Amino acid sequence: MAQFIDDKKRELSDKLEQSDAPDKLQQVESSFRKVMKELFAEMKTLPNEEKKDVGAAINEFKKEFEERIAAAKKKIAELSKNTAAVDLTVPSPEFIRGKIHPLIRVGRMFEEVYKEMGFSIAYGPEIENDKHNYEMLNMPYYHPARDMQDTFYLEYPKVLLRSHTSCVQVRYMLEHKPPFMIISPGVVYRVDEIDPQHTPCFYQVEGLVVGEGINLANLKWAVTESVKRVFGPEYKVKFSPCYYPYTEPSAAVDMGCIMCGGKGCRTCKGTGWMRVAGAGMVHPNVFEAVGYSRDTVGFAFGWGLNRLPMLYFKINEMRKLFENEISLWEQL
Ligand code: DAH
Repeated sequence: MAQFIDDKKRELSDKLEQSDAPDKLQQVESSFRKVMKELFAEMKTLPNEEKKDVGAAINEFKKEFEERIAAAKKKIAELSKNTAAVDLTVPSPEFIRGKIHPLIRVGRMFEEVYKEMGFSIAYGPEIENDKHNYEMLNMPYYHPARDMQDTFYLEYPKVLLRSHTSCVQVRYMLEHKPPFMIISPGVVYRVDEIDPQHTPCFYQVEGLVVGEGINLANLKWAVTESVKRVFGPEYKVKFSPCYYPYTEPSAAVDMGCIMCGGKGCRTCKGTGWMRVAGAGMVHPNVFEAVGYSRDTVGFAFGWGLNRLPMLYFKINEMRKLFENEISLWEQL
């Protein structure tokens, strides 16, 4: 019997030493329980005088293995905890860094320039109402200028997606008194057919300066200077008379087409110029609508921001700015 116990001990001991995983350990444990059962059953058949010694040997065997199995379980649990942790020595896979979208990059360049000039930034909602988007900007419901800026309605005719950032002017003036200088960047929407210069959703940066003595020369300087600071001092900017219901006088701002060097191409529709902004002296009706005196003076401008990265990076189609063309992005 003593020999039998020794053999079983050795056998289980070998198996236990090789148990490096929970399932293997479980097998050893169940073999051990089986062996115990067998030994106790065997012991019962022995004559009484042998029972005492054999019983003690079996108990010692039992105690030793219960302890060893418990220790092995603990060790395996520790090991599995460690392997689940992050192994800091493993080399990382190649990390592809994203870049800031060209539109946002150029937008931020302009923001920085305006901040240097003393402008602060104001934001407004993209879901607007008729009052702020048209009505208070001197475009009553019958005004033909609304046609050029038709938009998408959430609830016709009052709730809409803003067609320009000029509505932030109204919102800002309703809450602030002059003097102030603000710009307002953001997304705007229009029912525009897609062509090289148009997409139904695009970015604008609005500017508004109100204060005593503000004049058209200040407007011309601020707009021209911001282009020169972003694009370079030799860059050409053209002002020409134009019409906007919320400014009087109004101006269209064009920049020389970089794509063709001013000769005329598909992107600039053969004109050599690209319309980049509208501007003017704020109309007295707008000041009146926000509760200011009609004698208040100020200028406003609104950049079509999408045109600027097109010129800056020489991208000939506006819709490319919204396409996921990695080969294009990698060149910028
Ligand atoms: N809101 C005009 C547009 O979306 C741009 C514009 C023109 C903004 C004249 C102005 C402005 O602030 O004074 O086409």
